[in-house]
Amino acid sequence: MANAESDALVFFGATGDLAYKQIFPALQGLIRDEGFHLPIIGVAKAGWTLDQLKARAKDSLEHHGGVDAAAFEKLLSLLRYVDGDYNDPNTFSQLRQQLAGAQRPLHYLAIPPSLFATVAENLAKSGSAANARVVVEKPFGRDLQSAQELSRTLHQYFAEEDIFRIDHYLGKEPVQNILYTRFANPVFEPIWNREHIRCIQITMAEDFGVQDRGKFYDEVGTLLDVVQNHMLQVLANLTMDPPTGEDHDAVRDRKAELMRAVRPLTPYNVVRGQYEGYRSVPGVAPNSKVETFIAVRLHIDSWRWAGVPIYIRAGKMLPVTCTEAMVEFKRPPRETFGELVPNNSAHVRMRLSPDIAIALGVRVKIPGERMAGRDVELDLHSQAVEDMPPYERLLGDACRGNAELFSRQDLVEAQWRVVEPILGGVTPVYSYQPGTWGPEEANPLIGNDGPWINPVVRASAA
Ligand code: BG6
Repeated sequence: MANAESDALVFFGATGDLAYKQIFPALQGLIRDEGFHLPIIGVAKAGWTLDQLKARAKDSLEHHGGVDAAAFEKLLSLLRYVDGDYNDPNTFSQLRQQLAGAQRPLHYLAIPPSLFATVAENLAKSGSAANARVVVEKPFGRDLQSAQELSRTLHQYFAEEDIFRIDHYLGKEPVQNILYTRFANPVFEPIWNREHIRCIQITMAEDFGVQDRGKFYDEVGTLLDVVQNHMLQVLANLTMDPPTGEDHDAVRDRKAELMRAVRPLTPYNVVRGQYEGYRSVPGVAPNSKVETFIAVRLHIDSWRWAGVPIYIRAGKMLPVTCTEAMVEFKRPPRETFGELVPNNSAHVRMRLSPDIAIALGVRVKIPGERMAGRDVELDLHSQAVEDMPPYERLLGDACRGNAELFSRQDLVEAQWRVVEPILGGVTPVYSYQPGTWGPEEANPLIGNDGPWINPVVRASAA
């Protein structure tokens, strides 16, 4: 049973935002690309009919990725709907009927974490949790303790191997490509360490604000929205040791090991910012001290990485929307040609969005009499857009029981340990102008390890 494919997909929160923006497009994609054919049962408390849910699915696809006539027809034929309160046992007996004897259902909890316990318990009481898989979305708790409580709750009803924690960054092609490039090319491994690498920078910039998510965002801030999860996952892919063994846990074991070696942050290594205008967003407290920008300096206490500073910067209302990692090699030990080779001359640059690229930066001689150079990049890989949206890949993997691209409880806890000491806004929040690279105070943080590398987005990629 352990690896058997799921035979029905249930998604709670069927009328919600996540279903609208991600789940319907992912389901249509799975049907079109992989011949997905499982019964799909939406559950929500909206007073809706199945026809209303079908209309919502169409609307979702029209706004997110487009309707594929044949795949959409098939999606409609697979779709079922249960309307009811998550506290009402009747909702779960209706679901049981719709499951019609499925042996290995997958329950996707696209609902606020505060409802997880109620839904999991009612699934169990109605007999729908046995042999089932469950998919949950971040945030996995608000701190280490609540993450552990959440895990205990889920473990009452589901085995760890049946819990799939989505961090959609792991489903992104370029994030997987970091691992692939590192471990499919033995040339990188001998130089991927403190002997050759001077510094690593990861930037996740977004040129938009918190939009209509003011209430949600004001409870989390940038640290918990994208750094504790997405950015630390990217860091793990960049710095983990090579996996050994074939099973789904091979990569996750190495990642968890790496994450345990990341030194917990201290206020001295953090600069937080808030864009001007954030406090007037609906749902945001008028005196909010929550950050919309954060820059952190991290250290990994391992033989491979000791002494290599790692900088992560993420924020809203920055000049561009782009996520990029720069692995910067050491400068030459002496200035052989009487010119100062810039800090970031030799590097590997990995662009994760909006376009995808891997480039190798080196210095070459400018033709002529002088021994002077300029920085150039060799494009190893470049791709305009991602082929498969992360949710399509992740939902397909969860149905097949492939957990590699999902977070694991020990990894989640190790991520919380890294950020725990700076939770609760223990550092000042500096204001910055929308359209700038965050507060000035972020510059002294990087100091001589810098400068910050601000990603440049070509108009065609935006
Ligand atoms: C989400 C965050 O997890 O990731 C958002 O809640 C953020 O605030 C988004 O905008 C970024 O994801 P992507 O895939 O657009 O880079």
